[in-house]
Amino acid sequence: MAEPITHDVLILGAGLAGLRAAVEISRRLEGKVDIGIVSKVQLMRAHSVCAEGGTAAMLRPEEGDSFELHAWDTVKGSDFLADQDVVHRFVHAMPQEILLLDHWGIPWTRDEHGRIAQRPFGGHSYPRATLAADKTGFFEMQTLYDTLLRHRCFTRYDEFFVTDILVKDSRFVGLVGIHAGSGEVVTMRAKALLIASGGGGTLYGFTTYSQTVTGDGMAMAYRAGLPLEDMEFLQFHPTGLVPSGILMTEACRGEGGYLRNNKGERFMATYAPKLMELAPRDMVSRAETEEILAGRGFHSEAWGDYLHLDLTHLGAERINTRLPLIREVCMKFLGLDPITTPIPIRPVAHYSMGGIETDIDGRTRVENIWAAGEAACVSLHGANRLGSNSTAECLAWGGITGEEIVKALPKLPAPAAVPEELVARAKGHIEELLRREGSENLYVVRRELRTMMDRFVGVFRKGEELAKALVTVKELKERARKAPVPDKGRIYNSNLFHALELENLLDLAEVTVAGALAREESRGAHARRDFPTRDDEKWHKHTLAWHTEAGPRLDYKPVTITTWKPVERKY
Ligand code: FUM
Repeated sequence: MAEPITHDVLILGAGLAGLRAAVEISRRLEGKVDIGIVSKVQLMRAHSVCAEGGTAAMLRPEEGDSFELHAWDTVKGSDFLADQDVVHRFVHAMPQEILLLDHWGIPWTRDEHGRIAQRPFGGHSYPRATLAADKTGFFEMQTLYDTLLRHRCFTRYDEFFVTDILVKDSRFVGLVGIHAGSGEVVTMRAKALLIASGGGGTLYGFTTYSQTVTGDGMAMAYRAGLPLEDMEFLQFHPTGLVPSGILMTEACRGEGGYLRNNKGERFMATYAPKLMELAPRDMVSRAETEEILAGRGFHSEAWGDYLHLDLTHLGAERINTRLPLIREVCMKFLGLDPITTPIPIRPVAHYSMGGIETDIDGRTRVENIWAAGEAACVSLHGANRLGSNSTAECLAWGGITGEEIVKALPKLPAPAAVPEELVARAKGHIEELLRREGSENLYVVRRELRTMMDRFVGVFRKGEELAKALVTVKELKERARKAPVPDKGRIYNSNLFHALELENLLDLAEVTVAGALAREESRGAHARRDFPTRDDEKWHKHTLAWHTEAGPRLDYKPVTITTWKPVERKY
């Protein structure tokens, strides 16, 4: 491979946001641009293919939906931490995104009138989750990639593990990465970088995320000097399949499924009598946790306690047409048919509301770096994201950042030589990892990290437990430095990648816990037992975490309010 690999634009991550951006750049600069798409997995294995239930968009003004309503639902759902200018831009962008995908060939599910179908999702006051059965992400990814292929102006770098984002004098100057198949360490450069590498939910043991989702882009950006925003807000989805954690889509409840405790009661009647199972995720996850703590869960020594997601009243036809993946997963993983048997579930780590701080255009504080999708924090979701607003965000800000990059390219200088000292430092770290000796085991450290996060940084949090968690993260960081990489080879060295991922997870854990410990209030997904109420006077602000050798330095910035002052969040 001739080094450095040079493109006009590098896109780090090949999920929905990355592909959507690549399509936007390609169609605007047809034949006059050269994009490199870098992914640590095969492109179609990006975690976006796992998105199930739907993509939110206002499509039916004639039936009572409106931009205002979608925006209000999102702001209220965010517990008033979303930036409202961002929310307005989002809701206005979405109908077009749905239609673009339609024109590009996505097989949207249709209703009885032949219109693009939509279904209810939690916290949305109109059924606006646009669906392709329960494999929405998969079909969106296929459609975007198919569309991208028509433009022929990109190169795929699959199975490239990027270890460093290089920034010098406030400019992006290159990437360093390992090509898994050859073991070669490679440098890349471009005029512009888009980070679209997804979230970091495998910080937790019980998670819906693919094991490959380790927050690498966020952690690298953080170490390169970009602040991470609002990382204490981690979403727990109410229905993770027990014991694997596989997502049982919210569409199960959108299609009419019930949540029941061990008495057979639809317990949401106690917590959200109007919205019941379609209350926002933070509320449903708290309700489930309270039920389990009160002894109204089903007990299992092996799996931990759980509740039931009951679809048995929906009938085979509805399940087979609207939730085929759910049925298949239940049958394959548990030998259980949801047509006849309730599904064991409990809250599961699902989504990072926080990420790399960006402005409303997806631009970071480094002039030629943008971020989009779950890796970014454009401040759309605030303290709690509504279901189906995430694939939507990936499409909206994939499109926006793509357009912004196109506008910026003529003004950006050609990439200069990648600074040798930065490359040497990155390469030196890889060599140091391979040479490392010590008595620790990186997989034990990783397991302990996840167990600790599940236990102390979960649906409910307490100051003393968060303080313990912070000490533990620092200890685990020390121990990780003494954990050798067992495989000393170069080709497909997955041990080496896991060691690098562990470093990323530990940095993100430290930021998450530090932010959560500092935030002495309860807001959205951040529920403190010791500070059970929202405190707008002190805490109506975004957290920013800056990297220092001693750990994160926290700072804060105001929330943008354009339309709605914070009020009590009642459903
Ligand atoms: O439940 C789901 O299908 C997940 C959707 C989302 O996180 O937006």
